[in-house]
Amino acid sequence: MPSHVLVAANRGPLSYALSDDGELTARRGGGGLVSGLSAALAGRPEALWVCAALGDGDREAVRRGVSEPGVRMLDVPEQVYADAYNGIANSVLWFVHHHLYDIPTEPVFDAEFRRRWQAYEAYNLAFAEALAAEAAPGAAVLVQDYQLALVPGLLRERRPDLRIGHFTHTPWADPAYFRVLPAEVRERLLWGMLGADRLGFHTEGWAELFRRCAGPERLGRTAVAAYPLGVDGEELRRLAHRPEVDDRLAGLRAEVGGRRTVVRVDRTELSKNIVRGLLAYRELLVERPEWRGRVVHLASAYPSRQDLAVYRAYTERVAELAREINEEFGTADWQPVLVSVQDDFARSLAAYRMADVALVNPVRDGMNLVAKEIPVVSEAGCALVLSREAGAFPELGEDAFAVNPYDVSETAAALHAALSLPDPERAERTKRLAAAATALPPEAWFLRQLEDLLG
Ligand code: G6P
Repeated sequence: MPSHVLVAANRGPLSYALSDDGELTARRGGGGLVSGLSAALAGRPEALWVCAALGDGDREAVRRGVSEPGVRMLDVPEQVYADAYNGIANSVLWFVHHHLYDIPTEPVFDAEFRRRWQAYEAYNLAFAEALAAEAAPGAAVLVQDYQLALVPGLLRERRPDLRIGHFTHTPWADPAYFRVLPAEVRERLLWGMLGADRLGFHTEGWAELFRRCAGPERLGRTAVAAYPLGVDGEELRRLAHRPEVDDRLAGLRAEVGGRRTVVRVDRTELSKNIVRGLLAYRELLVERPEWRGRVVHLASAYPSRQDLAVYRAYTERVAELAREINEEFGTADWQPVLVSVQDDFARSLAAYRMADVALVNPVRDGMNLVAKEIPVVSEAGCALVLSREAGAFPELGEDAFAVNPYDVSETAAALHAALSLPDPERAERTKRLAAAATALPPEAWFLRQLEDLLG
């Protein structure tokens, strides 16, 4: 049956793992996009989520016809998918929008890059064709993120009757940084995005950067607006009080003792700035020795994009630095940093509940939902140390300790101020942070876009 509301995203709500004995087990995907969209679509059984088969488990699920209702997985040829997802989306577009390149040596746009770009074209085309086939006349299609930037244009060519929206979950590049891309690639990306009737971003700042990259004369009939995704407070608190989270909490409490906690939870992601976060924590222990033995840093960095060598090296650097700090300062009864590199959502929620201070210091981030989740869940209220470069900053900055993510000393000083915040003020700030964090929960975020698209 044709669908009236469709979303398209690289990552689906679930991904399948294939065990040696051929069994498929489903797992929820990580990252802000999946958590926001899953929550938004939970009450919309009529919607269809079109996503890619990410690995062997997903491909096998497609072959066996195993799927969730409301989900269609596309089995794009493995090499095409790898070149599009790892080679272009994550190694080029992600780096451009987050300003991540180590400029003296990268990027290099050569013949190999152009070969991969063809794969990105093919992968976007596969989505456009599937959407064109599944959409009812006049249906609304909400395309997600930088992996699918060409889909609006390609879909409009095939189905001019559709209402097409696109939402970017990342930042958008500054115009000067965007010009790093080859001219034809820049043109093609803008052409693809401007095939939409409406473009959404998390903040007005990212929306404005897009407008400047496109230029006023090209924007034409495409509307560009901000929809700052928030969290569903009630649902999050319910999830955080399940028995398995209580178990993790008991375990963590035993490890931490009665000490204060600095909590962070991220994907092992270059833009999250985990290394400078650890350097700041080390500087805190050096400059403010009164905290030695009285604080524990709980850092969860769950694996992400480990097919890319720079991500593996970065993950290794995080683990190594945590080891160094523990060796340098640890005592018989105090381990200064507890790092977890497992994908353990229950443990992350338990850490949220224990948070006295939340550390969110990305170098650049579309939104950062963790900054919104921790104040909602923390039991005693938490002080938020927040990067000025996070998309969440315009909404939360006033009640946070603002930091320049490159300034380790400023971050160390902010950690000290946050740890020292008197309880009543911490409670007041947490209340305001939680209110701002829940201002536009996923369902309302999605509905508002849908209404604007159809309206
Ligand atoms: C960010 C991106 C999403 C992506 C998520 C997880 O939130 O904006 O598009 O799904 O990270 O990354 P991954 O590459 O594992 O899907």
